[in-house]
Amino acid sequence: MNKSIGNNGPYNPVITGTGSAVPVKTLTNADFTKIVDTSDKWITTRTGIKVRHVAGEGETTATLSAEAARKALADADLDADDVELIIVATITPEMVFPSTACFVQDMIGAKNAWAFDLAAACSGFVYGLSIVQQFISTGRYRNALVIGAETLTRITDYDDRASCVLFGDGAGAVIVEASQKGPPGIIYSTSASDGSAWASLKCEAYGSRYPVSKPLDDPKKALMYINGREVYQLAIRRIVEIVNDCLEHCGLKAEDVKMYIPHQMNARIIESAAKRLNLSSDKVFLNIEKYGNTSAASIPIALDECCRQGKIDAGDIVLLVAFGGGLTWGANVIQF
Ligand code: ACO
Repeated sequence: MNKSIGNNGPYNPVITGTGSAVPVKTLTNADFTKIVDTSDKWITTRTGIKVRHVAGEGETTATLSAEAARKALADADLDADDVELIIVATITPEMVFPSTACFVQDMIGAKNAWAFDLAAACSGFVYGLSIVQQFISTGRYRNALVIGAETLTRITDYDDRASCVLFGDGAGAVIVEASQKGPPGIIYSTSASDGSAWASLKCEAYGSRYPVSKPLDDPKKALMYINGREVYQLAIRRIVEIVNDCLEHCGLKAEDVKMYIPHQMNARIIESAAKRLNLSSDKVFLNIEKYGNTSAASIPIALDECCRQGKIDAGDIVLLVAFGGGLTWGANVIQF
C-alpha cells in the first residue's frame, strides 16, 4: 500500500466519533403485503430489504438528527459547546426554513456552532464530508458535526409498489476533528452532479415552482417519484467509476481498502457494482435488510454500525460511496 497518501493541509480531518438513531416503529415486508400488491419474496430478491423504520408522532428529521449527534458527541468525548460547525444533509428537512441544522444546534445546545443544511439526496453525507475535509485540513475549524438524516416515509407514495417498499427513516452522525498527530482521516473526496437527469428521482412540491399557495394539478407531485429502471444501471456505472477514481487517486489496490460502505439503495445494485469491481462480499458493508434506503442517512448509519461492530481498526482504510437524486454522486476515502 502506498503510505504517502495524505491530506491537503496542515491538519488531518479525523473521524473521532459516530452515532445513529432510527425510529422504534417498523414496517416489515409482511406489513407491505397489506398495503400494496407485493410479496416478501419480490421485495427480498429485488431489493434485499426486509424491514424499514418509520418515524412516529413527535419524531422528525431534527429529533433523529439530535439523537444521532448526541451519541457521536459522546463517542468523541466532545462537549456540544465546543462544536464549531454543524451540517445536516437531508432532502426531508424539518421545515422549509429554518434549516434542520439550526434546530439540531438548539436541541443539542451547540450554541457556539454555525449550522446549515445540504440537499444532495443520497449523496448528501459524502458531500458533507467533502466540505468538512477542506475546512478542517486547512485549520479553519477545529471540529465539525456532519449528520445525514431523513424522514423519507413522510414523502413516500404508498400507492406506488415499486418505490414505497424501498424507503425508511433514520439519522447518522460523525464528529470530524483536526489532528496533527492522529491518523490521516479523510484523505480524498470526490463529488459530481448531473442536473440534466433531475426528473428520474424527484419530489416536485412544495417549492417555488409548485408553491403551496396554488393547488397542485397532480397531488403526487408532493411525493417522491423514482424511475427505478432508469436509475438502476446508471447507479452501478457511476459507483464503479467513482470507486476506481478513488483507488487510482490514492494509489490503492482494491484489497487495500478494509471496508467499502456504499449508500444502501438496493442490495442488487451494490452487489452488481461489487462484482464489476472484483470486491469480495466480506469487504462490502450491507445493512439495507434492516433499514431500507434512508438516503443521506444510510452511509453514516452504516459507518456507525461498522465502528460499533469492531469492523474498523486503527490504520484501516474505508471507502464511502453514494449515488442519488440530482443526479449526484460522490465518495470519500478515510484512513482511521
Ligand atoms: N412487488 C411486486 N411486484 C412489483 C413491485 C413490488 N413491490 N414493484 C414493481 N413490481 C413489478 C413491476 O410492476 C414489474 O411488473 P411487470 O413486469 O409486470 O411490468 C416487475 O415487478 C419488474 O419491475 P421493475 O421496475 O423492472 O423492477 P426492478 O427489478 O427494476 O426493481 C426497483 C425496481 C427496486 C425500484 C429497482 O429498479 C431499483 O432499486 N432502482 C433504483 C432505485 C433508486 O433509484 N434508489 C435510489 C434513489 S432514492 C433517492 O435518491 C432518494
